[in-house]
Amino acid sequence: MPNNEMRKIEVAKALIMRNKELFRCPVCEKEMVVTRTNSLLCRDGHNFDLAKQGHINLLMKQGKSEYDKKLFAARKVISDSGFFDPMRHKISTLIFEIGTEQGWTTASLLDAGCGEGSHLAQIMIDLDEKGLNDLLGVGIDLSKEGIRLAARDYQNMIWCVADLTKLPFQDGQFDVVLNILSPANYGEFKRVLKDRGILIKVIPASNYLIELREILYKGTDKELYTNDSVIKLFGGSFRLIRQEQIRYKVLLKEENLEHLVKMTPLTWNASHQQIEEIIKAGLQSITVAFDVLVGSK
Ligand SMILES: C[S@@+](CC[C@H](N)C(=O)[O-])C[C@H]1O[C@@H](n2cnc3c(N)ncnc32)[C@H](O)[C@@H]1O
Repeated sequence: MPNNEMRKIEVAKALIMRNKELFRCPVCEKEMVVTRTNSLLCRDGHNFDLAKQGHINLLMKQGKSEYDKKLFAARKVISDSGFFDPMRHKISTLIFEIGTEQGWTTASLLDAGCGEGSHLAQIMIDLDEKGLNDLLGVGIDLSKEGIRLAARDYQNMIWCVADLTKLPFQDGQFDVVLNILSPANYGEFKRVLKDRGILIKVIPASNYLIELREILYKGTDKELYTNDSVIKLFGGSFRLIRQEQIRYKVLLKEENLEHLVKMTPLTWNASHQQIEEIIKAGLQSITVAFDVLVGSK
Protein backbone atom coordinates (compact mmCIF):
# COMPACT_ATOMS: atom_id res chain seq x y z
CA MET A 1 0.00 0.00 0.00
CA PRO A 2 1.50 3.44 -0.91
CA ASN A 3 2.63 5.59 2.06
CA ASN A 4 -0.12 8.21 1.80
CA GLU A 5 -2.81 5.49 1.76
CA MET A 6 -1.20 3.86 4.84
CA ARG A 7 -1.27 7.20 6.58
CA LYS A 8 -4.88 7.89 5.65
CA ILE A 9 -6.06 4.56 6.95
CA GLU A 10 -4.03 4.99 10.16
CA VAL A 11 -5.44 8.51 10.78
CA ALA A 12 -8.98 7.27 10.14
CA LYS A 13 -8.48 4.21 12.32
CA ALA A 14 -7.12 6.29 15.22
CA LEU A 15 -10.13 8.63 14.99
CA ILE A 16 -12.59 5.74 14.87
CA MET A 17 -10.76 4.04 17.79
CA ARG A 18 -11.09 7.19 19.89
CA ASN A 19 -14.81 7.31 19.12
CA LYS A 20 -15.67 3.62 18.89
CA GLU A 21 -18.45 3.92 21.47
CA LEU A 22 -20.31 5.97 18.85
CA PHE A 23 -21.01 3.00 16.62
CA ARG A 24 -23.55 0.24 16.69
CA CYS A 25 -23.88 -2.58 14.24
CA PRO A 26 -26.32 -1.63 11.46
CA VAL A 27 -27.44 -5.27 11.27
CA CYS A 28 -27.92 -6.45 14.88
CA GLU A 29 -27.50 -3.13 16.73
CA LYS A 30 -24.76 -4.53 19.01
CA GLU A 31 -21.64 -2.62 20.09
CA MET A 32 -18.61 -2.64 17.84
CA VAL A 33 -14.86 -2.89 18.31
CA VAL A 34 -12.00 -1.90 16.01
CA THR A 35 -9.85 -4.88 15.04
CA ARG A 36 -6.13 -5.01 14.26
CA THR A 37 -7.03 -5.77 10.67
CA ASN A 38 -8.69 -2.37 10.21
CA SER A 39 -12.34 -3.33 10.56
CA LEU A 40 -15.26 -2.61 12.82
CA LEU A 41 -16.57 -5.86 14.23
CA CYS A 42 -19.67 -6.47 16.35
CA ARG A 43 -20.21 -9.20 18.94
CA ASP A 44 -22.32 -11.17 16.47
CA GLY A 45 -19.48 -11.18 13.97
CA HIS A 46 -20.72 -8.61 11.45
CA ASN A 47 -17.57 -7.13 10.01
CA PHE A 48 -17.03 -3.84 8.14
CA ASP A 49 -13.64 -2.96 6.64
CA LEU A 50 -11.98 0.42 6.60
CA ALA A 51 -11.22 1.34 2.99
CA LYS A 52 -7.73 2.45 2.05
CA GLN A 53 -9.06 5.96 1.38
CA GLY A 54 -9.93 6.12 5.10
CA HIS A 55 -13.72 5.73 5.09
CA ILE A 56 -15.79 2.85 6.31
CA ASN A 57 -18.61 1.11 4.50
CA LEU A 58 -21.38 0.15 6.91
CA LEU A 59 -23.89 -1.10 4.37
CA MET A 60 -24.63 -4.79 4.09
CA LYS A 61 -25.34 -4.45 0.42
CA GLN A 62 -24.69 -1.57 -1.92
CA GLY A 63 -27.73 -0.31 -3.80
CA LYS A 64 -27.49 1.51 -7.09
CA SER A 65 -27.66 5.29 -6.74
CA GLU A 66 -28.34 8.00 -9.28
CA TYR A 67 -25.91 10.12 -7.26
CA ASP A 68 -22.80 9.05 -9.13
CA LYS A 69 -19.17 10.10 -9.41
CA LYS A 70 -19.87 12.68 -12.15
CA LEU A 71 -22.62 14.36 -10.13
CA PHE A 72 -20.43 14.67 -7.02
CA ALA A 73 -17.42 15.86 -9.02
CA ALA A 74 -19.62 18.61 -10.55
CA ARG A 75 -21.14 19.38 -7.15
CA LYS A 76 -17.68 19.78 -5.70
CA VAL A 77 -16.60 22.25 -8.42
CA ILE A 78 -19.72 24.33 -7.76
CA SER A 79 -19.24 24.02 -4.03
CA ASP A 80 -15.58 25.13 -4.25
CA SER A 81 -16.69 28.15 -6.31
CA GLY A 82 -18.41 29.56 -3.20
CA PHE A 83 -21.95 28.75 -4.35
CA PHE A 84 -23.03 27.37 -0.95
CA ASP A 85 -20.95 29.64 1.29
CA PRO A 86 -23.76 31.90 2.63
CA MET A 87 -25.80 28.81 3.56
CA ARG A 88 -22.85 27.18 5.35
CA HIS A 89 -21.99 30.39 7.21
CA LYS A 90 -25.59 30.67 8.34
CA ILE A 91 -25.44 27.10 9.69
CA SER A 92 -22.18 27.65 11.60
CA THR A 93 -23.54 30.90 13.04
CA LEU A 94 -26.71 29.13 14.19
CA ILE A 95 -24.74 26.30 15.80
CA PHE A 96 -22.38 28.76 17.48
CA GLU A 97 -25.24 30.93 18.81
CA ILE A 98 -27.26 27.99 20.13
CA GLY A 99 -24.13 26.30 21.51
CA THR A 100 -23.11 29.50 23.32
CA GLU A 101 -26.62 29.90 24.79
CA GLN A 102 -26.45 26.31 26.05
CA GLY A 103 -22.84 26.55 27.25
CA TRP A 104 -21.32 23.97 24.88
CA THR A 105 -17.55 23.56 25.12
CA THR A 106 -17.45 20.68 22.63
CA ALA A 107 -19.75 19.57 19.86
CA SER A 108 -20.30 16.41 17.86
CA LEU A 109 -21.85 16.88 14.43
CA LEU A 110 -23.44 14.30 12.16
CA ASP A 111 -24.11 15.26 8.54
CA ALA A 112 -26.79 12.82 7.34
CA GLY A 113 -26.68 12.70 3.53
CA CYS A 114 -23.37 14.58 3.37
CA GLY A 115 -22.61 13.88 -0.31
CA GLU A 116 -19.00 14.87 -1.11
CA GLY A 117 -18.52 16.25 2.40
CA SER A 118 -17.63 19.88 1.71
CA HIS A 119 -20.49 21.39 3.77
CA LEU A 120 -19.46 19.54 6.93
CA ALA A 121 -15.77 20.31 6.37
CA GLN A 122 -16.46 24.05 5.92
CA ILE A 123 -18.85 24.25 8.88
CA MET A 124 -16.20 22.62 11.10
CA ILE A 125 -13.62 25.19 9.94
CA ASP A 126 -16.06 28.06 10.61
CA LEU A 127 -16.89 26.78 14.09
CA ASP A 128 -13.23 26.33 14.93
CA GLU A 129 -12.55 29.92 13.84
CA LYS A 130 -15.43 31.15 15.99
CA GLY A 131 -13.83 29.44 19.00
CA LEU A 132 -15.76 26.16 19.29
CA ASN A 133 -12.73 23.92 18.95
CA ASP A 134 -13.27 20.51 20.42
CA LEU A 135 -15.31 19.16 17.52
CA LEU A 136 -16.14 15.75 16.14
CA GLY A 137 -17.49 15.59 12.59
CA VAL A 138 -19.12 12.51 11.12
CA GLY A 139 -20.51 12.39 7.59
CA ILE A 140 -22.64 9.58 6.19
CA ASP A 141 -24.11 9.01 2.78
CA LEU A 142 -25.64 6.11 0.88
CA SER A 143 -23.39 6.87 -2.06
CA LYS A 144 -19.93 5.29 -2.01
CA GLU A 145 -18.78 7.81 -4.62
CA GLY A 146 -19.69 10.80 -2.46
CA ILE A 147 -18.00 9.36 0.63
CA ARG A 148 -14.88 8.43 -1.33
CA LEU A 149 -14.49 12.04 -2.43
CA ALA A 150 -15.10 13.27 1.12
CA ALA A 151 -12.46 10.93 2.58
CA ARG A 152 -10.02 11.88 -0.18
CA ASP A 153 -10.28 15.59 0.52
CA TYR A 154 -11.06 15.98 4.20
CA GLN A 155 -9.20 14.15 6.92
CA ASN A 156 -9.88 14.28 10.66
CA MET A 157 -13.54 13.53 10.17
CA ILE A 158 -15.25 10.14 10.16
CA TRP A 159 -16.78 9.29 6.79
CA CYS A 160 -19.18 6.36 6.45
CA VAL A 161 -21.15 4.83 3.65
CA ALA A 162 -24.38 4.25 5.54
CA ASP A 163 -28.14 4.54 5.37
CA LEU A 164 -29.74 7.42 7.23
CA THR A 165 -32.88 5.35 7.73
CA LYS A 166 -30.83 2.92 9.86
CA LEU A 167 -28.00 4.92 11.33
CA PRO A 168 -25.04 2.83 12.56
CA PHE A 169 -24.72 4.87 15.78
CA GLN A 170 -25.73 4.41 19.40
CA ASP A 171 -28.55 6.51 20.89
CA GLY A 172 -27.87 10.06 22.13
CA GLN A 173 -24.43 10.64 20.56
CA PHE A 174 -24.69 13.94 18.68
CA ASP A 175 -25.20 17.59 19.58
CA VAL A 176 -26.12 18.48 16.00
CA VAL A 177 -27.58 16.53 13.11
CA LEU A 178 -27.26 18.33 9.78
CA ASN A 179 -29.54 17.32 6.95
CA ILE A 180 -28.79 19.44 3.92
CA LEU A 181 -30.82 19.05 0.73
CA SER A 182 -31.16 15.35 1.53
CA PRO A 183 -33.96 13.00 2.57
CA ALA A 184 -34.71 12.78 6.29
CA ASN A 185 -35.59 10.13 8.82
CA TYR A 186 -36.79 12.04 11.86
CA GLY A 187 -37.11 8.97 14.08
CA GLU A 188 -33.46 8.09 13.53
CA PHE A 189 -32.30 11.72 13.89
CA LYS A 190 -34.10 11.94 17.24
CA ARG A 191 -32.62 8.67 18.41
CA VAL A 192 -28.98 9.64 17.77
CA LEU A 193 -29.32 13.21 19.10
CA LYS A 194 -28.47 14.03 22.70
CA ASP A 195 -31.43 15.35 24.75
CA ARG A 196 -30.33 18.95 24.24
CA GLY A 197 -29.33 18.26 20.62
CA ILE A 198 -30.56 20.13 17.56
CA LEU A 199 -31.49 19.16 14.02
CA ILE A 200 -30.63 21.62 11.25
CA LYS A 201 -32.39 20.90 7.99
CA VAL A 202 -31.81 22.86 4.79
CA ILE A 203 -34.50 22.67 2.14
CA PRO A 204 -34.86 24.38 -1.22
CA ALA A 205 -37.33 27.29 -1.32
CA SER A 206 -39.64 27.99 -4.28
CA ASN A 207 -37.12 30.03 -6.22
CA TYR A 208 -34.10 27.74 -5.85
CA LEU A 209 -32.52 27.41 -9.32
CA ILE A 210 -35.70 28.96 -10.74
CA GLU A 211 -33.93 29.79 -14.01
CA LEU A 212 -33.36 26.04 -14.64
CA ARG A 213 -36.82 25.11 -13.41
CA GLU A 214 -38.42 27.54 -15.90
CA ILE A 215 -36.71 25.86 -18.82
CA LEU A 216 -37.17 22.28 -17.61
CA TYR A 217 -40.70 22.40 -16.28
CA LYS A 218 -42.43 25.17 -18.23
CA GLY A 219 -46.17 24.51 -18.41
CA THR A 220 -46.07 21.52 -16.04
CA ASP A 221 -47.12 21.29 -12.40
CA LYS A 222 -43.45 21.12 -11.41
CA GLU A 223 -42.78 24.68 -12.56
CA LEU A 224 -43.93 25.92 -9.20
CA TYR A 225 -42.41 24.22 -6.20
CA THR A 226 -43.39 24.74 -2.59
CA ASN A 227 -41.75 23.30 0.50
CA ASP A 228 -44.83 23.68 2.76
CA SER A 229 -45.33 19.94 3.18
CA VAL A 230 -41.66 19.43 4.14
CA ILE A 231 -41.90 22.14 6.80
CA LYS A 232 -45.12 20.60 8.11
CA LEU A 233 -43.52 17.16 8.37
CA PHE A 234 -40.52 18.63 10.19
CA GLY A 235 -42.85 20.36 12.68
CA GLY A 236 -44.63 17.05 13.30
CA SER A 237 -41.44 15.48 14.63
CA PHE A 238 -39.30 18.30 15.99
CA ARG A 239 -40.06 21.52 17.85
CA LEU A 240 -39.21 24.28 15.37
CA ILE A 241 -37.01 26.71 17.34
CA ARG A 242 -35.60 28.83 14.48
CA GLN A 243 -36.41 29.30 10.82
CA GLU A 244 -34.19 31.32 8.53
CA GLN A 245 -34.44 32.28 4.89
CA ILE A 246 -31.37 32.49 2.70
CA ARG A 247 -31.76 34.17 -0.68
CA TYR A 248 -28.99 35.26 -3.02
CA LYS A 249 -27.87 35.29 -6.64
CA VAL A 250 -24.68 33.63 -7.79
CA LEU A 251 -22.80 34.97 -10.79
CA LEU A 252 -21.96 32.02 -12.98
CA LYS A 253 -18.66 31.68 -14.76
CA GLU A 254 -19.26 30.28 -18.23
CA GLU A 255 -17.54 26.97 -17.47
CA ASN A 256 -19.62 26.46 -14.33
CA LEU A 257 -23.00 26.35 -16.06
CA GLU A 258 -22.31 22.82 -17.25
CA HIS A 259 -21.23 21.75 -13.74
CA LEU A 260 -24.40 23.28 -12.33
CA VAL A 261 -26.51 21.30 -14.78
CA LYS A 262 -24.68 18.10 -13.84
CA MET A 263 -24.80 18.60 -10.08
CA THR A 264 -28.56 18.89 -9.64
CA PRO A 265 -31.16 16.10 -9.59
CA LEU A 266 -33.47 18.64 -11.32
CA THR A 267 -31.91 17.68 -14.66
CA TRP A 268 -32.12 13.89 -14.19
CA ASN A 269 -35.15 13.53 -16.44
CA ALA A 270 -34.27 16.35 -18.80
CA SER A 271 -34.06 15.68 -22.52
CA HIS A 272 -30.91 16.36 -24.51
CA GLN A 273 -32.76 19.26 -26.12
CA GLN A 274 -33.61 20.85 -22.75
CA ILE A 275 -30.00 20.59 -21.58
CA GLU A 276 -28.89 22.26 -24.80
CA GLU A 277 -31.47 24.97 -24.26
CA ILE A 278 -30.04 25.66 -20.80
CA ILE A 279 -26.47 25.81 -22.08
CA LYS A 280 -27.59 28.04 -25.01
CA ALA A 281 -29.45 30.36 -22.64
CA GLY A 282 -25.97 31.13 -21.29
CA LEU A 283 -27.27 32.02 -17.83
CA GLN A 284 -25.03 34.55 -16.17
CA SER A 285 -26.54 34.30 -12.75
CA ILE A 286 -28.68 31.85 -10.87
CA THR A 287 -31.02 32.18 -7.89
CA VAL A 288 -30.20 30.36 -4.68
CA ALA A 289 -33.01 30.15 -2.13
CA PHE A 290 -32.97 27.93 0.94
CA ASP A 291 -35.02 27.68 4.12
CA VAL A 292 -33.10 26.57 7.19
CA LEU A 293 -35.15 24.81 9.87
CA VAL A 294 -33.74 24.29 13.35
CA GLY A 295 -35.51 21.84 15.61
CA SER A 296 -35.11 20.53 19.10
CA LYS A 297 -36.40 17.18 20.39
C1 LIG B 1 -29.00 16.42 -3.33
S1 LIG B 1 -27.79 15.41 -2.56
C2 LIG B 1 -27.21 16.49 -1.28
C3 LIG B 1 -25.83 16.12 -0.82
C4 LIG B 1 -25.18 17.15 0.11
N1 LIG B 1 -25.89 17.27 1.36
C5 LIG B 1 -25.11 18.48 -0.60
O1 LIG B 1 -25.91 19.38 -0.27
O2 LIG B 1 -24.26 18.64 -1.49
C6 LIG B 1 -28.76 14.21 -1.64
C7 LIG B 1 -27.89 13.18 -0.95
O3 LIG B 1 -28.68 12.32 -0.14
C8 LIG B 1 -28.09 11.04 -0.19
N2 LIG B 1 -29.07 10.03 0.27
C9 LIG B 1 -30.27 9.72 -0.30
N3 LIG B 1 -30.88 8.74 0.42
C10 LIG B 1 -30.05 8.45 1.47
C11 LIG B 1 -30.12 7.52 2.56
N4 LIG B 1 -31.17 6.69 2.72
N5 LIG B 1 -29.08 7.48 3.41
C12 LIG B 1 -28.01 8.30 3.26
N6 LIG B 1 -27.89 9.19 2.26
C13 LIG B 1 -28.90 9.27 1.37
C14 LIG B 1 -27.68 10.89 -1.64
O4 LIG B 1 -26.76 9.85 -1.84
C15 LIG B 1 -27.12 12.27 -1.91
O5 LIG B 1 -25.75 12.36 -1.62
